[in-house]
Amino acid sequence: MNGYNITTLNEFIIRRQANIPYAKGELSNLLHHIGIAAKVVHKKVNKAGLVDVLGEAGEINVQGESQQKLDVFADMQFTAALRNSGECCGIASEENQEIITFDDELSLDGKYIVCMDPLDGSSNIDVNVSIGTIFSIYRRISPRGDKAQVVDFLQEGNKQIAAGYIIYGSSTMMVYTTGLGVNGFTLDTGIGEFCLSHPNIKTPEAGKIYSLNEGNYNKFPEGVKKYIKYCQEKDKKTNRPYSARYIGSLVADFHRNLLKGGVFIYPQTASAPNGKLRLLYECNPMAFIAEQAGGKATNGDIKILDIKPETLHQRVPLYTGSKSMVEKAEKFLVESKK
Ligand code: AHG
Ligand code: MN
Ligand code: MN
Repeated sequence: MNGYNITTLNEFIIRRQANIPYAKGELSNLLHHIGIAAKVVHKKVNKAGLVDVLGEAGEINVQGESQQKLDVFADMQFTAALRNSGECCGIASEENQEIITFDDELSLDGKYIVCMDPLDGSSNIDVNVSIGTIFSIYRRISPRGDKAQVVDFLQEGNKQIAAGYIIYGSSTMMVYTTGLGVNGFTLDTGIGEFCLSHPNIKTPEAGKIYSLNEGNYNKFPEGVKKYIKYCQEKDKKTNRPYSARYIGSLVADFHRNLLKGGVFIYPQTASAPNGKLRLLYECNPMAFIAEQAGGKATNGDIKILDIKPETLHQRVPLYTGSKSMVEKAEKFLVESKK
C-alpha cells in the first residue's frame, strides 16, 4: 500500500532545519507557532457571519483606520502565539503604535523579532472576500536577555530571516520563504494540518494581469498612467491587452499574481507621496517572497528590500510581481520624468 504521502508544514520545517548547519530549531518553533495562530484565525474567519466577528470594533488604529473585530482578534491570536513560542522578544503590528516587548525570561532570551499585519484586507471581511495575515521575521540586533528595542525592527528587508503570509480564501494557505525558495501549504481542515501543496513556487517571468486601484487614476504619476494605457493596448507578442484584477486585499492580489504572473502596483500620489502600503509588515515580506520566487519588488526606483526603514509604520510605493512587467512599469516612470 502506498496511501499516505503528505508533507505537513511541521515536517517540512524540521526537514529544512536539518539542512541548515547549527540550526537549533528556534526558527522552526517560531514558524510552528505562527501556523497555530493561523489555524485559530482560519476557524474564526470561516464562521464569520455566524459568530459575532463581523463589523467594527469601535476603535481607530494607528493608521487612523477603524479597526474591525477580526483585526483585533487576529492581532490577539498572533501576539499570543508569538509570545508563547518563547523564541520572539518583541513584535511590531499594524494594530499597535509602538512595539510590544515580551518580557518573560524565555522571550527575553528569544533571538527573533516579528513584524506583522495580523489581518490584511479588512475592508473585505464583511463581504466574504479573501483576506490574509502577513509576517516578517528578523534576528534581533540588541543583546539576548535584554528587552527588544525599536532598532531591532528598523532593519532593511534584505536582513529578513523568513517571511510569509496566510491567505484565508477558497481554501486557507500559508506561503513562506526562509531564503531557500518559496513553498505553499494548504490547510487540510479534515486533519487540521497545513500540507505542502505548492512546492518551490516560481512566478512567471511575464503575465497578463495588472492590479491597481484604478479609481485613483487621476492622482497617479504620469508614468503609471502611461503604463496603464500600455497594459490596455492590443499587442499579440506581449499578450496585450492585459486583464485588470484588483481585490483590495494585498495578500489575495499578490497571491494570484504570484501563481499566474502579473504586476501589482500601489503607487505614490501627490497627496500620498509614499503610497499606502507599509514597508515593515506589508511590502518587505512580500518583496522577499517575490524575489525568492524569481519576481521583483521595487518602489518604482530601488529594491524594496534595500530601503532602510526610519519608522515602524512607514509607507512606501510598491511595484511587484513578474520581473519583466515590473521593469516595464519602471521604464514608463523613468521616461515620464525626463
Ligand atoms: P489592511 O486591511 O491591513 O489595512 O490593508 C489594506 C491594504 C491592502 O490589503 C490593499 O492592497 C490596500 O489596502 C487596498 O487599498 P485601496 O482600498 O486604497 O485600494
Ligand atoms: Mn494590510
Ligand atoms: Mn491589517
